[in-house]
Amino acid sequence: MTAMSLAERIDPLMRPQAVHRDLYTSQDIYRLEMRHLFRNTWVYVGHDSQVPNKGDYYTTQVGDQPVIMVRHVDNEVKVLHNRCPHKGTKIVIDRSGNTGKFFRCPYHAWSFKTDGCLLAIPLKKGYEGTGFDQSEAAGGMASVGAVENYRGFVFARLAEDGIGFHEYFGGSLSSFDNMVDRSPEGRLIVSGQPLRYMHKCNWKMLVENQTDTCHPMVAHESSAGTAVKIWEEMEKPEGAPKPPAMEIIAPFMSPYEFFENMGIRTWPNGHGHTGVHHSIHSDYSAVPGYFEALSATHGEERAKTILGENRHNTVYFPNIMIKGPIQQLRNFIPLAADRTLVESWIFRLAGAPDELVARTAMYNRMINAPTSMVGHDDLEMYERAQEGMASDGLEWVNVQRLYEDGENLEEEAVLNGTTERQMRNQFHAWRKFMLWGENQSGAAAMQRPEAAE
Ligand code: FES
Ligand SMILES: [Fe+2]
Repeated sequence: MTAMSLAERIDPLMRPQAVHRDLYTSQDIYRLEMRHLFRNTWVYVGHDSQVPNKGDYYTTQVGDQPVIMVRHVDNEVKVLHNRCPHKGTKIVIDRSGNTGKFFRCPYHAWSFKTDGCLLAIPLKKGYEGTGFDQSEAAGGMASVGAVENYRGFVFARLAEDGIGFHEYFGGSLSSFDNMVDRSPEGRLIVSGQPLRYMHKCNWKMLVENQTDTCHPMVAHESSAGTAVKIWEEMEKPEGAPKPPAMEIIAPFMSPYEFFENMGIRTWPNGHGHTGVHHSIHSDYSAVPGYFEALSATHGEERAKTILGENRHNTVYFPNIMIKGPIQQLRNFIPLAADRTLVESWIFRLAGAPDELVARTAMYNRMINAPTSMVGHDDLEMYERAQEGMASDGLEWVNVQRLYEDGENLEEEAVLNGTTERQMRNQFHAWRKFMLWGENQSGAAAMQRPEAAE
């Protein structure tokens, strides 16, 4: 059995313009992603409006780690590992609720404050003189390495040490800013439960799709193209305004030039967005009273600037996407090399008319729901790709569109909107954070994959 470094394991799987299929199909690579990539990066946990009151909690996972997001008595949002320090039992099983002032383990009733500290143990005298105070268990429920609440969006880094939040996200935070600034009160509120949709494919396919501008007019022709055709053929008065559903679906059929001209911006560490100059969200009708409400807060000039920013999809590497103009967030939660749970969340803009969240909900139902018209098209492409990659005919996945020698992915750039630079940017960041800290801890030294399997 020969020890092999993580770099030696993954580097043969990556080229500047292509990646090996193992990145999508190998369960060994998936496990390494969970152990390294999802440990070293800042991963989205939830929105603080999901836990508005002290003791409110929401359970989810960061990578493959079950966690609890909870509002502590000091009003801060904490992120704890969902695991009892006694025998390992998951402390909370419900998706969300209110735990009051403490968590209580259902197995032996150890209790913990909402920051994880051990509060009480029944029959504590049994630990007297045993050195229990020095044990890991006495430390209570473990916190994740670091937590940041950015304008309501809660992120966690599992690793104790690592890249800082602002260094990691840099200029990409401007997309969150624009989404929140659209609220006349400067805050968002989660609206309802997310749409949850299981995909039998690798999580990275979904993330790549968010900036894949060469597929809508092809993969969505059967749904969006049909809708456009029906609308065109319908009898209606000259110049009749498009109904909201048509405003949402018709831009999916825009020609290549539209997507080329919209532009793509990439930031270091795998973040990027489509829709630099315009987007499929640019031409929605104004909602009465909204501009006035926003202007009352910001003044007309600033309100115009905020609404003039119509970014399409912003990818926050590794695994979420937001749409600022319609207040949506999609979380691509990896469950296995070939299983991804997609959550599509929508937000209400505090202080804005209800029509806005109604449009957002309509978008979510039409485009992202398990019952949607459009989401199925993408799902079929991912699952076909997952199946196709089982073929031994070819081993590489191509991401070469508009590639240039010497491309520097550590620099922000704006390019033609059909570039695959953002996909390359994600793989560049993938390698960077898979290997982050490897040399410090030596923890990434591993056995050859055949031995590990
Ligand atoms: S396992 Fe939690 S109290 Fe024993
Ligand atoms: Fe799509």
